[in-house]
Order: sequence, then structure tokens, then C-alpha cells
Amino acid sequence: MLKSHNCGELTAAHAGQDVRLAGWVHRRRDHGGLIFLDIRDRSGLVQAVVDPSAAEAAYRTADTLRAEWVVALTGEVRARPAGTENPRLATGDIEVHATDVDVLNPSKTPPFYINEDSEVDEPLRLRYRYLDLRRERMAANLALRHRVVKYIRDFLDARGFLEVETPMLMKSTPEGARDYLVPSRVHPGYFYALPQSPQQLKQLLMVAGVERYFQIARCFRDEDLRADRQPEFTQLDLEMSFVDERDVLDLMESLYTGLAGAAAPSKRVPAPFPRMTYAEAMRRFGTDKPDLRFGMEITDISAIVRDTGVAVLTSVLTEPGGAVRGIVAPGCAGYSRRELEALTDIARTQGARGLATIGLDAEPDTPIGALRQEHVRSALARHLEIEAVQEIARTMGASAGDLLLIVAAHEDIVNAGLSALRAELGHRLALADPDELAFAFITEFPLFEAGDAEGEGGRALTSVHHPFTAPVPEDVGLLEESPDSARSRAYDLVVNGLELGSGSIRIHDRALQDRIFALLGHSPEQIQERFGHMLEAFDYGVPPHGGFAPGIDRTVMVLAGEPNIREVIPFPKTQSAQDLMMSAPSPVDAQQLRDLHLQLRDPARSIPNTD
Ligand code: AMO
Repeated sequence: MLKSHNCGELTAAHAGQDVRLAGWVHRRRDHGGLIFLDIRDRSGLVQAVVDPSAAEAAYRTADTLRAEWVVALTGEVRARPAGTENPRLATGDIEVHATDVDVLNPSKTPPFYINEDSEVDEPLRLRYRYLDLRRERMAANLALRHRVVKYIRDFLDARGFLEVETPMLMKSTPEGARDYLVPSRVHPGYFYALPQSPQQLKQLLMVAGVERYFQIARCFRDEDLRADRQPEFTQLDLEMSFVDERDVLDLMESLYTGLAGAAAPSKRVPAPFPRMTYAEAMRRFGTDKPDLRFGMEITDISAIVRDTGVAVLTSVLTEPGGAVRGIVAPGCAGYSRRELEALTDIARTQGARGLATIGLDAEPDTPIGALRQEHVRSALARHLEIEAVQEIARTMGASAGDLLLIVAAHEDIVNAGLSALRAELGHRLALADPDELAFAFITEFPLFEAGDAEGEGGRALTSVHHPFTAPVPEDVGLLEESPDSARSRAYDLVVNGLELGSGSIRIHDRALQDRIFALLGHSPEQIQERFGHMLEAFDYGVPPHGGFAPGIDRTVMVLAGEPNIREVIPFPKTQSAQDLMMSAPSPVDAQQLRDLHLQLRDPARSIPNTD
């Protein structure tokens, strides 16, 4: 072995021992004739001292070293002289007095600093990812990801789950995102699809009698990328037989409380996790992934404004789905015109025509009943009686000094606008504690939503989760008459405003599954061609089953406190789905295309630099 110890493990207990270390030169400093080297390996840093009077050859070698050279070094561990200890370094009480220094491999000057946590352009980091991963923050994220996956494996193993691998080369199905396709060489004109998730296979494993399955599963989706989306990502995919919602959610809750405790012990995790229906989440927060670290809940004031005669507020109420709702921004009555304009823009981005604002500009302890017209800062002030303002303020739970933000529109727009405003204000007013992880389960999602009937292969309805999700039993009767009001047995796990995972109790009855496919607009021939394998299996004794799939990347991102999942994926792709290190995707040889029976309509062009 080139090493007798890891750099980061040396302490005062090793003083007097001879050690052999190997690693990278993190930093080199010359001081009064001595050379100080910080040597780094995965375990951390240790300081080595090379003294020309004690080790002349070692000194000459040390003198040539530069950052990121790989070296091996022998020496004695000694306590640092009193007053020179470094309490910020785990090995700060000692240093290694080198007798031999060998260069194992030199390094070019890296394109960015490895030994500083400085801002580096992301494309440069991705191009040299192997250097980026040497940096402390990234090395810590890699190690955290390992611990998270290990915790999950141990947790599920202890509860009787079997880890089962499912294929990467699968069948393309029309549900969900766009598939990544793989052409078949053996069967001209035929394609495999990479799995968007192992959904159908995990259900077939329940038919197979596995009862408790999990997999750390790689998934592929050709969709628009965002901070929390990559074209290939990892799920903890799991499925259980003979369970209902409570069993699955209880299991996930104990997994995530344990995981957060083990992997992010400094975070506060309120438990039990609140469980609320989709309808309640939308009513209170305007979104199905609310940040529950703060209140600022939505109040419906349609009934109050109805009689005010203020047309901008009341006109929507005569339209189907129209609503007037608002939130209270505490202490913001004094917001400037510019600040209010910025908030209005947020509402507009979500489709609202405008934002009504009412500042209650009075001393903080003024009772609402004592508010007078001159306290009301609002473009609507002239049109609203002071009694109406007071009633709105009371209903919304506001106090003097607060700012009321009100959107009048179709309720979908009201919800989108107010939840975006709530998120912005929660952030701006520092209402959300960065040290809290506020998990929650959202249940009873709608079964269907309006599809893109105009689009190619357009349909009136699509599944909100996926077509294998069971309807709530009481709502099965709604399927033919008003399918869009049927609730499903789908649930999500959310944390701090982010969707971490989704799942559902599945349909295990062939006739019901057939009906759902038909409602989704598949003809009997299409059902047979696309899902025949599932339906056939459903003729052979299917246990009731349900499951869940949290994103591993998002989980690690949250536990690491990182702002996007690329920081916790060792080799991620850019926003335009490129691997900048390997230059993928790339053109292929004409012969490869011929082998695959493919012909390009347009020649491959170079990829513009948009990331
Ligand atoms: P769903 O499609 O909701 O459900 O995905 C579950 C979870 O996977 C993660 N995720 C992603 N992470 C990163 N990049 C992406 N592009 C991406 N897409 C999804 C999210 C999400 O919550 N088979 C069902 C689950 C089930 O019903 O059991 C499924 O895949 O964290």
C-alpha cells in the first residue's frame, strides 16, 4: 500500500508514529526556509512540513510541487508547536514532518481552484467534472448520496423488501413524458424505450408474488429540464401488496424521519407529517406542493366583495369558476409603488390580469374597527367603503400595518397567482426557516385532468398521476357522468414547497382498468396493443397493491441544502440535456446508422452553445 493512514484521520493520538500518506497537493506554502504542504485525500487534509536541514532531498522535491500534483510522503506525526494549532481543521493539532516526498503524478494547473469554494461557471465545472468532484462541497455531496442510498437499502431490507432489477430496454407506451428510444438492429423499424419509471414492471412483480419490492431505479424522460429535473434521474421505486394508503404513507414517514435524522441531523423535522387532501391544499395554499414552514394561508373573500360594487373584483364572480381570494403580507403596508408593481408582475406571470393591493397603513396596534379611510393605501380606496375594507381585513385575519394581496380571476389563476406570491413573500420576509424540513403528504388527487384534445393523438382526458391509479371507491360511480370530478387514490410527499415523490393505490381489477383506458381515449385495439401484457396478467390473480417513488436526487438535494439536483448528481446533464465532459449526444458513423436501419432526414449540425 502507498498509504499507511488516511490524511484526515490523523490526531494527537498518532504523535510519534511514522506514517506513509498519499494524496493531492491541496496547497503549498514556503515559510522561512520550510515548505508547508496541505495533503488531501478523500478523508480530509493534513499539514506536512519539509525541513531542508532534516530532509534535503525531500525538500528539493517539495520545492517543485504545485497544486493538484499527486504525491506520496513518509514522515513522523508530531504535535504542532503551541500556538500554531488550527482548530478549524480536524487534523489541526498535528503535522507530519516529512522525510521522503515522491511525485506519483504531476498536474496541469486546473481550470479553477479546487482548494477554494469560489464561484465557477457551471459549464466549466461540468466540462471538468472529475476536478469539480474533488472540491469539498461536491465530495461531501457524493458521500451524502452514498449514505442516503445505504440508509434506504438497510431500512427496507429490515422490513422485508426485496431489491429487484428491471430492464432498461423496455416497450414505449404513450403515457407520461416523451420516451428516449433505442433502435433495434435485429428487428428493422422496431424500437425499445428506456424506462420513464419501472411502473408496469413493479406492478407485474406484485402479480408475481414478490409482495414487497424496491429498487434504486434509473429513469429516463425526454422533457424540458429545470432545477429539479434531469433527463435521467434516480427513484427509490417501491411497491407493496395487501396495503392501503395508510400503510404506504406510514412507511414513507418513518423512512423520511429516520433518513433526515441520520443524514441531516441539524434540520428540524416536525412529525407526524401533516396529511391533507389535494382539495384542502389547493384551498389553503393554492398549490399541491405547499411550503408548510409558514402560514400566510389563502382566504376566500368572494362572498364579502360580491356586494361592494367594485367591478374589478366582482365581475369574475358571474363567470364559472370565478373567485376572489387573497393573502396577507404581514407588516408590508408601506410597500413602495415599485415593490407593489413587482408583486403584480408575479400575479400576471401566472395569468392574472392584475393584483388588488390594500395597505392598512396605521400604527400596528390600531384595532381593525378603528381604521379610517386615510389609513387605506389602495387604488381601490375610493371605491371601497371603509366598512368593506374592515370586513375584508377581519376575514383575512389581517392587522394594522399589513398588506392585503387580492386576485380576482378563475380559481385556477387565483391559486397559481397567490401561491406564487406566497412563495415569494415567504422567501422575502424570511418566514421559512432554512433549518426546517416541513414534510407533508397530499392525498386524493383528481383522477383525470383535461387533456390536450387538439394535439396529436389528442384526448379529452389524461391521468393526473398515471392510468394504473385507482379511483376513490365512492367516486367510481362518477366515472361515466363526470369523470373530471372523480378523486384518485394518488398521493405525493412534499417538503418545503417541493414534490419529493408520488405514488398511488393501483387498480387491480381488469374490468376497471379497461374502463379507465377507454375513458382515456384508447380504442380496444390500442388497449390491446399498448397494455395487453398488463391486462393479460390481471387475469391471473392480482393482489391489491400500491406503491411510491420518491426522487433520490431531490431527496439528496434537500438533505444537502443544495439549490438544484445537478449538485448531487455525479455526472449531470445541462439544461439542454448535454454531457459537456463526454460531449454526448454525438453524431455516429454512417455504418452504425445503416446497421440500425436508420437514415437521417437532416445531417447532424454542431450543437449551439446555449447552456
Ligand atoms: P412520478 O412521475 O411522479 O411517479 O415520479 C416520482 C418522483 O420522481 C422524481 N422525478 C424526477 N426527478 C428528477 N428529474 C426528473 N425529470 C424527474 N421526474 C420525476 C420526483 C417525483 O416525485 N411510477 C410513478 C410512481 C408510482 O406511482 O409509484 C412515478 O414515476 O421526485
